[in-house]
Amino acid sequence: MDKPKPPERMADFFDARSDGYDEHMRSSVSDFDTFYQSIARIVSPTDQPVKILDIGCGTGLELDAIFKRAPQARITAIDLSRGMLRELRTRFSERLDQITLVTGSYLHIPLGEAVYEYAVSVMTLHHLLPRTKHRLYRRVKEALKPGGTFIHADWVVSVSEECRYRLHYREMTRATQSCEDGCYHIDMPLAAASEKELLLEAGFSSVEEAWRSEGTVVFAARP
Ligand SMILES: C[S@@+](CC[C@H](N)C(=O)[O-])C[C@H]1O[C@@H](n2cnc3c(N)ncnc32)[C@H](O)[C@@H]1O
Repeated sequence: MDKPKPPERMADFFDARSDGYDEHMRSSVSDFDTFYQSIARIVSPTDQPVKILDIGCGTGLELDAIFKRAPQARITAIDLSRGMLRELRTRFSERLDQITLVTGSYLHIPLGEAVYEYAVSVMTLHHLLPRTKHRLYRRVKEALKPGGTFIHADWVVSVSEECRYRLHYREMTRATQSCEDGCYHIDMPLAAASEKELLLEAGFSSVEEAWRSEGTVVFAARP
């Protein structure tokens, strides 16, 4: 059997694919439009400048739908990939006064305390081990204002596939040295039930499954 290819660094992976990323997502996410609309539907319609944290914002696909619900929203958008952020800047060239772009890892950048009405993560956390996600979820919870909501949307798999991905993850990381979890593009999707459990373990008091389709789920988690 062929040896598995070494994983690519996360920022390099997305920099190399930022051009054409949106078309790729449109053709590979089943129910693409409904998926992004179901994320935005969790945001209550408002003309207020609500604060929203978007971790792993990429080119800003989720923000298109969110701005329709909250046109005055103030977004803090974090991403490792300069290429993806360049696309986001072009997409929202007329709203740049509403968006603070932060280049770097959401695993390290301080997220603040009680700052945001909403935090959003879309299709970005399925590269992390559960223990790393747990720490991040606690920080996201802290960053929310009382009454805030964490909208977490991601790729999910069956329980047996989750076990298979865990083994694969171990194999891939054995080949790489001195790099913490999350800096390589290695898939580690969880089952929806495992995701929900992790959110509850991290301290969210309610986790509602707002939408699910083949392979994707949208959670609304409240502190
Ligand atoms: C599949 S894209 C999703 C982008 C966007 N949320 C969407 O739904 O189209 C994943 C994004 O997460 C970013 N990312 C992955 N790990 C990250 C980290 N530790 N810190 C910041 N961004 C990260 C990648 O650079 C990439 O832009």
